[in-house]
Amino acid sequence: MTNTPPKKSTGPGRFKQAMRSLAGSVNVVALQDPDGNVLGVTATAVCSLSADPPSVIVCINQNSSLAKGLEIGRLFSVSVLSEHQKDISEAFGGRKGVSGKNRFIYGEWHRSEDNVPILHGARACLECRVDNFMDYGTHRAAVGAVTDVHLEEMDDASLIFVNGQYFSVG
Ligand SMILES: Cc1cc2nc3c(=O)[nH]c(=O)nc-3n(C[C@H](O)[C@H](O)[C@H](O)COP(=O)(O)O)c2cc1C
Repeated sequence: MTNTPPKKSTGPGRFKQAMRSLAGSVNVVALQDPDGNVLGVTATAVCSLSADPPSVIVCINQNSSLAKGLEIGRLFSVSVLSEHQKDISEAFGGRKGVSGKNRFIYGEWHRSEDNVPILHGARACLECRVDNFMDYGTHRAAVGAVTDVHLEEMDDASLIFVNGQYFSVG
C-alpha cells in the first residue's frame, strides 16, 4: 500500500464517459418563440425539482436553438417520451437532419390553451413557465414552474437512454 493519492482526473472525455452511465428518461423540451416559431430539442437532462411548488429543471446547451428562448416568464413544455417515440427523440436530437418547425412532423403535436406545443402519446407532458435560470459552463439550467400536467391512459413504457442506447422501462 502506498500513501501517494491517485492522480485526480476530470477531463471532459472522462466526465462524458461517466455521464454515459447516467440512465435518463428521454424528453422533448419545446416552446413557441415571440415570432410564433416552434422550437424543440431532445433532452435527458430534466429533473424533478420540487413538488411544492411543482417544478422541474431542464439543462439545455447554450448553443442549441432553444436555449435563448428559456427566458424568465417564457412558457415551454416537457414531453416525457414513451417507448414508441424513439424516432421523435432522434428528430429533436438533431439526428435526422431536420431543424426548427420541421421536427414537429415527427409525432402528433397540438397546442395547449396557452399555445405551448404538446406531444400526443407521451407518457406525460408538463407545461411550465420559466421562473429562473442559470447559465453555467456550456449549458443553461432553467427552473420551470409547472402550470399544467397532461397525462394519457396508456400501457406504453418510458423511453430511457443510457450508454448511447435506448431502452423501454416501466
Ligand atoms: C437521447 C438524447 C439526449 C439529449 N439530451 C440533451 C440534454 O439533456 N441537453 C441538451 O442540451 N442536449 C441534449 N441532446 C442533444 C440535443 O437534443 C441536440 O443537440 C439538438 O440537435 C439540439 O437542437 P438544435 O439542433 O435545434 O440546436 C440530447 C440528444 C439525444 C439524442
